[in-house]
Amino acid sequence: MKATQTYCFAVLFLFCSFSISTAAVTGDCVNCHTMHNSQDGSAVAHSGIGAGWNGGEISGGDSTASQGNLLVAGCVGCHSNVGSDTIVTIGTTKVPIVYNQAEPSLPLAGGNFYWVEASGDAYGHNVAGISSADGAFAGKPPGTLAFNPGEGLLCSPCHFDLSVPQGTGWTWGTNNGGCEACHVPRHHANGDNPVVGQAEGWYRFLGSAMYRASNNEMVTPTGVVGIEDDDWEQTVSAADHNVYQGAVGYAGAGAGGGIVDGAIGQICIGCHGQFHHSYAGTANTGSGMMDASGAWIRHPADVLIPGTGEYADFNTYDPLTPVGVLNVSAGDANFQAIDNSRNVVNCISCHRAHGSPNPDMLRWDYNNCQTGTANVECGCFSCHTAKDQ
Ligand code: HEC
Ligand code: HEC
Ligand code: HEC
Ligand code: HEC
Ligand code: HEC
Ligand code: HEC
Ligand code: HEC
Repeated sequence: MKATQTYCFAVLFLFCSFSISTAAVTGDCVNCHTMHNSQDGSAVAHSGIGAGWNGGEISGGDSTASQGNLLVAGCVGCHSNVGSDTIVTIGTTKVPIVYNQAEPSLPLAGGNFYWVEASGDAYGHNVAGISSADGAFAGKPPGTLAFNPGEGLLCSPCHFDLSVPQGTGWTWGTNNGGCEACHVPRHHANGDNPVVGQAEGWYRFLGSAMYRASNNEMVTPTGVVGIEDDDWEQTVSAADHNVYQGAVGYAGAGAGGGIVDGAIGQICIGCHGQFHHSYAGTANTGSGMMDASGAWIRHPADVLIPGTGEYADFNTYDPLTPVGVLNVSAGDANFQAIDNSRNVVNCISCHRAHGSPNPDMLRWDYNNCQTGTANVECGCFSCHTAKDQ
């Protein structure tokens, strides 16, 4: 066992330097931009509901809506495909697809919005251009903190309903639609640090949407940090995966100061804060994941994986249940060994960010997790290694 691991590591080391990408787009301008939105007298741009790649061309949706930055499509259109492939290749441009109109064969790391349409509201975030409001919550995020309920206030639609369409009347900044409630896109950011940060447009363009909205500025002082797998985890294994920054002891940053630790969970808790903060029993903040005595009242998130008890047998990274890493450095690329002083359980250990084939956007079928029944497809057992015995 030991010998094999060392061998893998040596091979991996070579492989790593080629498998990491940075955020900047590649390819001909014409793949993504149109100078006059007119070719042979016909419109070129396609956006809105139904727009997507189809046999190498953008089609469907609305051809008359204006597109900023002279783009051939909006966020949803360019990141959609009528077929099931999750990476569309146009010349040297590779487009990661987050919404397939046919069931995706190999969904990317964030999952896919296909299921929120095909299976129902519980299977993903209901975002503008793809879904209408979630019937169960009237849009309101479960676990929202008392001070950012959003409803009808300045802070809608982000903290209220991600399905509010672009341009709908809104008192604070411009509503750019559901994708930009979380993403601050910077497709031409051309930094080349292996650990992606501000110069690269932050990990998967997860800059602070709050900062952008209040300052009308795309380069944000905080954002998510991490190492980006080159095919967005279309192929994934313990030796080939994203590396997500985690954090410990984060209790909420107050209005707008989120993502201070560059942790991926800090994106989620912007809208679902009660499911995270240590003890938020103080005025305005609602409850948290612990009560006043320190007992868990919700599943821990951004908490170190203990090296004791049943957790001691969780030794190898499992892409089904990714753990976060404190202070990611380049050497962490494709790490395989769990480090109990640096690895945390976090929101995306159990959830996909966009949508999944399982209710609550879970990474596996939770209804198939039974005590005493070994099941490699049940993520609970990656960490709770004794509960399947
Ligand atoms: C794969 C798609 C893609 C390709 C190829 C591409 N762009 Fe862009 N470009 C975008 C997107 C998306 C934006 C939207 C703004 C953002 O995300 O920063 C953008 C924004 C821009 C902007 C305005 C914002 C800025 O960063 O300055 C300019 C100018 C621009 N592109 C020029 C070009 C030129 C010139 C080329 C060819 C050399 C090119 N682009 C190739 C996708 C692309
Ligand atoms: C014209 C096509 C086009 C449009 C429009 C477009 N994108 Fe992209 N986007 C791309 C391509 C191509 C990539 C892959 C870049 C690369 O190779 O890393 C990409 C990458 C991304 C990524 C992943 C970045 C990473 O690090 O891998 C995110 C997130 C994203 N886009 C969000 C958006 C959002 C939000 C919008 C709307 C504001 C948008 N995109 C509009 C083509 C587009
Ligand atoms: C609720 C927040 C949220 C919303 C809304 C959202 N994203 Fe994402 N997106 C994320 C996160 C978090 C990741 C990183 C996933 C990972 O690496 O596990 C991501 C990753 C991506 C990627 C990289 C591919 C992947 O799966 O890792 C693309 C492209 C992207 N998003 C585009 C979009 C587009 C287009 C929309 C709107 C249709 C959108 N996102 C809406 C949070 C969001
Ligand atoms: C463009 C979408 C958007 C708008 C508009 C917006 N927010 Fe946020 N908010 C987010 C996101 C995404 C996060 C998590 C990442 C971050 O901090 O930027 C967040 C984080 C927060 C946090 C930090 C929560 C914590 O526990 O750390 C607070 C507080 C907050 N928002 C309050 C507000 C208030 C109040 C308004 C209106 C004045 C508002 N937001 C408007 C998207 C938005
Ligand atoms: C900008 C606000 C915002 C952010 C950031 C955000 N969410 Fe949500 N989330 C919502 C809203 C609104 C709903 C309820 C409506 C819906 O499903 O879209 C929701 C619903 C959910 C649900 C229940 C799904 C359902 O429909 O039953 C889960 C699970 C979830 N979010 C997980 C996450 C995770 C994990 C992250 C971080 C990757 C995250 N959220 C980030 C706004 C947000
Ligand atoms: C250990 C796995 C795990 C972790 C970690 C986790 N969740 Fe969940 N989450 C679940 C499961 C399982 C459900 C289904 C409902 C239940 O069992 O409570 C769920 C449900 C949800 C829901 C839907 C609640 C509703 O009312 O429908 C939201 C929103 C959510 N999680 C957000 C988050 C956020 C944000 C984080 C990080 C702070 C997080 N989760 C961390 C497993 C997890
Ligand atoms: C990535 C690792 C990881 C995954 C996956 C995971 N857990 Fe946990 N779980 C933890 C950690 C870490 C703790 C807290 C350990 C401690 O007390 O320090 C914990 C604690 C718990 C607790 C005990 C809380 C207490 O009061 O002590 C329960 C119950 C639990 N998890 C259930 C689940 C279930 C059910 C699933 C699957 C939906 C799941 N966990 C998935 C890591 C994980």
